[in-house]
Amino acid sequence: MQPATVPEIACVRIKPQAATLSIDVHRCPERALDRVPPCYSMSAVEKLPQQKIMPFALRPLQEADTAQAAEIERDAFPTLFPPTPFRRELRNRMASYLVATRRDDLETRHEDLGFADGVSYDVEAPPNSPLSISRLLSNARGFLAKRNAAWVQGQHYIAGFLGIWYMVDEAHLVSVGVRTEHRGCGIGELLVIGGIEQAIERASATVTLEVRVSNDIAQSLYNKYGFSERGVRKGYYTDNREDALIMTTEDIQSTEFRDRLLFLSAAHQARWGYSDRLLS
Ligand SMILES: CC(C)(COP(=O)(O)OP(=O)(O)OC[C@H]1O[C@@H](n2cnc3c(N)ncnc32)[C@H](O)[C@@H]1OP(=O)(O)O)[C@@H](O)C(=O)NCCC(=O)NCCS
Repeated sequence: MQPATVPEIACVRIKPQAATLSIDVHRCPERALDRVPPCYSMSAVEKLPQQKIMPFALRPLQEADTAQAAEIERDAFPTLFPPTPFRRELRNRMASYLVATRRDDLETRHEDLGFADGVSYDVEAPPNSPLSISRLLSNARGFLAKRNAAWVQGQHYIAGFLGIWYMVDEAHLVSVGVRTEHRGCGIGELLVIGGIEQAIERASATVTLEVRVSNDIAQSLYNKYGFSERGVRKGYYTDNREDALIMTTEDIQSTEFRDRLLFLSAAHQARWGYSDRLLS
């Protein structure tokens, strides 16, 4: 996908230490060029909070999000059939879905949703600035609205979701998907961190999942979070009979696992910014 004139808002970077205000649009610097998705970042300086803030937060799926979740699922898993019945899943006591929602939408109902008070995502430029970040964000919102038909202005914008089924002491990660235009910006990783944290909270012993043998990106993400191969399900995927790798964590309640998770989530925060996570 070619870059649009309006920058994506998924990678807003804040450089609080710099002295003057400047805005530049560039590719995500952390990514090697051959892996760069269509994702751009803005750097804005001056009058900014000290902490870098990720423009997406996690919270549980709500009824109003289900059309967007279905849209993301079609984008992330185009051959999946039948599609996930998200509305029904909301009543499934075994299932739990988390969504990555845009932070500035949340702020209108921040307290209603139970997020802790705290960092603000207001990065307004001074009046004499040639370009206001809020105007850029508002343009970007209009741009996204055209591309993401299931998102209605006024609703929380959802960039990705993760689903877990809880079975006895095992958490089964059934899906994680991010809209194509927001990939490569730490959202998938944020969802995985939130999912594992939730599984720890719910006293699961392990997290397990199936992943296509050809899906190197997802496997790389899961490897990073301590999932390792435990077997193969032959011809598991009905569209092309592709095999699935079964990947499972060690005991997620162990000190070793929790310490590693803390380390990785701190590294994620340092790289992508602080993010609220409401897990239930
Ligand atoms: C898999 C998916 C959820 C990752 O989400 P994302 O937001 O793009 O990922 P992030 O930016 O958070 O990256 C997290 C990790 O994923 C891996 N990753 C992401 N993009 C990658 C790429 N282009 N190449 C290789 N690895 C990549 C890396 O391990 C990365 O960690 P690193 O940055 O420290 O190397 C997303 O690509 C997606 O929705 N894919 C389609 C659906 C899917 O395959 N889901 C998994 C099915 S089991």
